[in-house]
Amino acid sequence: MSASAPAICTTRPISVPRTGTLQWWHTAVIYQVYPRSFADSDGDGMGDLPGITARLGHLARLGVDALWLSPFYTSPQADAGYDVADYRDVDPLFGTLADADALLERAHQLGLRVVVDLVPNHTSDAHVWFQAALEAAPGSPERERYLFRDGRGENGELPPNNWLSVFGGPAWSRTTDADGTPGQWYLHLFDVRQPDLNWGNEEVSAEFRDVLRFWLDRGVDGFRVDVAHGLVKEEGLPDWAGHSSMISEHESGEETSAPADDDGDDDEQADDGEVDLRNNGPMWNQPGVHEVYRDWHAVLAEYGADKMLVAEAWVSPLTDLAKYVRDDEMHQAFNFAFLASHWHAEEMRGVIEHSVQVNDTVGAPTTWVLSNHDVVRHASRLGLPSAGGNVEPVGPDDLQPDAELGLRRARAATLLMLALPGSAYLYQGEELGLPEHTTLPPEVREDPTVARGGGLGRDGCRVPLPWEAAAPAFGFSPTGASWLPQPEGWARYALDAQKGDPSSTYEFYRRALRTRRDFALGSGGLAWIDLDRPGVLGLANGELVVLANTTGEQVRLPEDLEPLLSSTELDKHTDGALFLPADTTLWATRVHPEPGRKPFGPD
Ligand code: NOJ
Repeated sequence: MSASAPAICTTRPISVPRTGTLQWWHTAVIYQVYPRSFADSDGDGMGDLPGITARLGHLARLGVDALWLSPFYTSPQADAGYDVADYRDVDPLFGTLADADALLERAHQLGLRVVVDLVPNHTSDAHVWFQAALEAAPGSPERERYLFRDGRGENGELPPNNWLSVFGGPAWSRTTDADGTPGQWYLHLFDVRQPDLNWGNEEVSAEFRDVLRFWLDRGVDGFRVDVAHGLVKEEGLPDWAGHSSMISEHESGEETSAPADDDGDDDEQADDGEVDLRNNGPMWNQPGVHEVYRDWHAVLAEYGADKMLVAEAWVSPLTDLAKYVRDDEMHQAFNFAFLASHWHAEEMRGVIEHSVQVNDTVGAPTTWVLSNHDVVRHASRLGLPSAGGNVEPVGPDDLQPDAELGLRRARAATLLMLALPGSAYLYQGEELGLPEHTTLPPEVREDPTVARGGGLGRDGCRVPLPWEAAAPAFGFSPTGASWLPQPEGWARYALDAQKGDPSSTYEFYRRALRTRRDFALGSGGLAWIDLDRPGVLGLANGELVVLANTTGEQVRLPEDLEPLLSSTELDKHTDGALFLPADTTLWATRVHPEPGRKPFGPD
C-alpha cells in the first residue's frame, strides 16, 4: 500500500474535442443484441425478434444510443446465422419481416438507432445462388458468383491452394458432379457451409447494393459489416502457409509495452518484430476491398449523412485499419486492439493513444469494445492470470477465471472505456456482469469451430440472458427452454435482482452511461495525466479526470479530486483520506486548488 498520493508529473494532450457537425455514430454507445440469446417470446428456447422488441425498454433505460443486431436472416444456422440463405427475409426461428419492422419502429420510438449485420464475404450453402452454382457447369455464370477452381494434382484431387479455414481444416471443399464423379473445389474461409463470394463479379456487387437499399428502405440506421477485410482475395489465389484467426493477442501488441506473454502460446511472435503470419495472408486486407466500401458509402449517402457502416476487420497494424474509415469509406471500425489488451496501464495507454491518433489522421471516431459474441466475456477474461489478452475459449478442464477479480476488473475496464472519446460497443449481458459459461457440456455446443477445429468454440459467451431471478430460464423464455443451458448460479445476475441496488453492475452501468452523456465524453478531447505511479493510468476528458488503478495495491487519492463514480467503492481511512482500491477506475472532477497548492490534472 502506498501512503502518499501519486504526484502529477505532466499532462499531455492527445486529441482535441470534436467540433463541427456531429453524427450520432461519432459518439454513440451501441449495444450488441445477439438475437438467439436475448429474449425468447414463443418459448422454443431460441431468442426472437418479438422477444427483443418487448425488452427494448431495458436498453432505453440503460441509456445506450443504439443497438446492433447480429444476423436474424433466413439461415440454416450452420454458424449461428452468419450463414445467410436469404438476405432479405427473417428466419422463422426469429420471426417475420413484419416483426423486424415492428422492432425498428419501437426502437425508433424509444430514441434508439438500429444497426443490422451484413454478411458479404460468404453466403450459406443453402442460398439459391450456391445451389444453382452446384447444379451448373464449371465456368458458368452461376459458378462465377463464388470462388470455384479446379483441383491440383493429376486428377484434380488436391485443393487449388494450401489455404486453411479460420475455423480449422482446409479452406476448400470438393463438389460432386451430377454423374457422381468428383468435381471442382470451392473456397470457404470459414465453415464448409459458408462458401466465399466472388467480389470480382459485378453481379455480386450489384446484389449487395440492393440488399443495403432493402434494409435502408425499411429504416435501419447502419450496418455492421462481417469480415470486412476478407471480401477481395489476391489475384491468382497464391499459396500461403499462415493460419488465420479472428482476434489474436498480437493485435494489442503493436507499439506498446505489453507485459510478458504468459500463456505459453509460442506462435505469438510479433512483439519481437517478426512478421505475424496469421492475418496478413493473400485472403485478407487486399486493396480492392476499399472500392467496395466507397461504393457502399455512396449508397448510404443517398439516405442521408446519419447512416453508418462499421467494419469488423481483424487488421493490424491500426494504420491499415484506419484506411477502412477514410471519409469516403466506412464510418467506424471495431478496435480489437483495445479488446485484446491486458489489464495493464502502460499497455492500455499505448493502445488508446495509438488508436486515437491513427483515427484522427482520417477524421474518424475511434471505437472501443471489450466483449462480443466471438470472445470470452471480459468479466472472465480479466479474471485469468493473464489479465486479459487471451481471448481463446475457456473450458471445464482449463484453469477457471477468478469470478470476483474478473468482475472487479471488468467494471474498471468498462469505466475506463466509457470515458474515452468516440463510440463504445457493449455486448448484451455485460451490463449484468455476466461471466463466460466455462463448463458447458460438449454435446450442447453448436459453434461450428468445435467440429472443425476441435476446440471449445464460442458458445460460452452466447448463453441466454437472465432477466428474472425466480422465473424459468431466468425469464429468458416463458417455458423455461433455453438453447444453451444457463449456469445454476445465474439468479444473482438477473436484471430484477440488480435493479435498484446501487452496488449492482447494472446500476453502475446506468450511472456511467448517464455521466458519459452529461459530460459529453464521446465528443471530448483526451489528455494524459502522467503520474509517478506505475500501473495507474491517468487521463482527462474535458472536466472529467479518470484514474485507472491496474495494480493489486490501493493508491491514495490526491486531495483536489471530487469523486463522481468508481467501479469499486473507494476506501476512506480514519484520517479522512480517500484511497483508490486495487483494480478500480475512478471518475472525478477537480476541486479548485487552494492558492499555492499544486493542482491535479491539466490546466
Ligand atoms: C465474424 C462473426 O462475428 C463470427 O461470429 C462469424 O463466425 C464469422 N465472422 C464468420 O461470418
